[in-house]
Amino acid sequence: MSEPLISVVDLRVEFPASRASRDLVGRGRPVRAVDGVSLDLMPGEVLALVGESGSGKTTIAHALMRLVAPTSGQIVHHGRDITRLAGAELRALRKSFQLIFQDPYESLDPRQTVGAIVTEPLLIHGVGRSSRERAGLVREALASVGLTPADEFAGRFPHQLSGGQRQRVSIAAAMVLEPELVVADEPVSMLDVSVRAGILRLILDLRAERGFACLFITHDLSLAWVLADRIAVLYLGRVVEIGAAAEVIRAPRHPYTRALVSVVPVPRPSARREQVILEGETPSPSATPAGCRFHPRCPLRRKLGNPEICERVDPVLEPSGADHAAACHFPLEEADARQRV
Ligand SMILES: Nc1ncnc2c1ncn2[C@@H]1O[C@H](COP(=O)(O)OP(=O)(O)O)[C@@H](O)[C@H]1O
Ligand SMILES: [Mg+2]
Repeated sequence: MSEPLISVVDLRVEFPASRASRDLVGRGRPVRAVDGVSLDLMPGEVLALVGESGSGKTTIAHALMRLVAPTSGQIVHHGRDITRLAGAELRALRKSFQLIFQDPYESLDPRQTVGAIVTEPLLIHGVGRSSRERAGLVREALASVGLTPADEFAGRFPHQLSGGQRQRVSIAAAMVLEPELVVADEPVSMLDVSVRAGILRLILDLRAERGFACLFITHDLSLAWVLADRIAVLYLGRVVEIGAAAEVIRAPRHPYTRALVSVVPVPRPSARREQVILEGETPSPSATPAGCRFHPRCPLRRKLGNPEICERVDPVLEPSGADHAAACHFPLEEADARQRV
């Protein structure tokens, strides 16, 4: 196997305690938004990062993009630690990593035309020898995301565009620099349902054409299943399971993944499995449970008669299969995983 494009090693990002916190339990304690995440992203692959709201997805994306500083851990790019890169080296990195934001209404400058928005990254990174050459690159980028006639779109302002068209503009602005990595942070969750499929198809087509790796962030496991080569499942700032998408869906090892998978609509009714409804709420990331962070809600632990190890020992990701790993003291066997928790 080739070497990873990116290795994230025991990444932690803490935010200072917020006095405005809704959660009485964690008030006054730092928010452990990302709490020991390790994962590899291979060149050209689509890795879906799946987790419920507040599980740390955006913070991981921002740490990768170097928009927030990690508290500890490493981000390694082609074998080089980039966690504390600065100056010209950081600028070069920013050129090859591009972020597609969740909200195309907030991420585009309303005072700039579409042409100016897509030209800006070229100017920042000194790409193109003349304004004419840059205009050509911008036209090409707009055409590649389906905004044609490109010259006409280049003259418009964001408020003259639909949500889907705006998201196409942000994708064009990401593509114009020919990135090696595209981080797409819930790129369709703010869009009208009717235009979502088109935007997802566009991202996949561009990926197939250009070969960039994609970290695709979503709270929707079924979407991850359709789009990704591999899936990483996040719970309270930690990857609890990672593996080939089909494997994670077909035979989840972690009881949390198992519960998520159980409510994914399946195409064949005969394959319908018992739904696992988790009890309780996800705890606050400023009051992460000791031991296994999932133990207070774990149906398997209850079934096993509350093994003490779950309350005391924080499980690490252990391989189970060729491209599959889970952080659970009692990972589900294949036969079990298909049937029940
Ligand atoms: N700048 C910040 N300051 C304080 N807390 C933050 C900040 N950004 C995110 N958080 C908290 O960190 C946790 C993870 O947030 P986030 O990464 O946005 O999750 P997700 O994208 O999965 O919804 C949440 O509890 C959130 O409230
Ligand atoms: Mg988010």
